[in-house]
Amino acid sequence: MVQMYVDRLADELTKSLDKSPNSRGLMSEEGTALVTKFVQEPGVREWLNGLDILQKVRLWGAGKDGLQVLLHGAETAKKGGPHDHGSSWALYYQVTGITVMTTYRRMTGLDGEPGEADLEVSGVQELTPGNAMYFGPNVIHSTEHPSPPARWIRLTGVDLDHATRLRFSLERKEAVLD
Ligand SMILES: [Fe+2]
Repeated sequence: MVQMYVDRLADELTKSLDKSPNSRGLMSEEGTALVTKFVQEPGVREWLNGLDILQKVRLWGAGKDGLQVLLHGAETAKKGGPHDHGSSWALYYQVTGITVMTTYRRMTGLDGEPGEADLEVSGVQELTPGNAMYFGPNVIHSTEHPSPPARWIRLTGVDLDHATRLRFSLERKEAVLD
């Protein structure tokens, strides 16, 4: 039953992307609307809350160069370091709990390139259930979950396991390939 809703979500997202693959606003708004509809379907929220998020949970994937729908979660308080998603866009959609999302401007070095990278915070936002945040390619961000539990769905344009991405050290002011 739930799988039917997953397949429909993937189908609708794919159609939306095919319509206008480079439109940031479209995926931000339509993607958010489609995921909202998905989590409101009967049984879906309970199913998402029951999945074991200690392992990678791929709800749907269209090969390494296509759309991915992943579920992530935090059972204990945690804070991630700044990173980008390389050339892929991403949409973070909060299902339960809160994600504190920090975005950064890179003051030294080149976007998408390893090396010197002095970061300046450009924004801090609390993502609450039903809300989403869209990141274009190379946008630097970090997540924090100070009040677990929390679960969120992350859509990306490609499989990040196969993408060239950067991790940033605020202390060393540098970017390294992930
Ligand atoms: Fe990320």
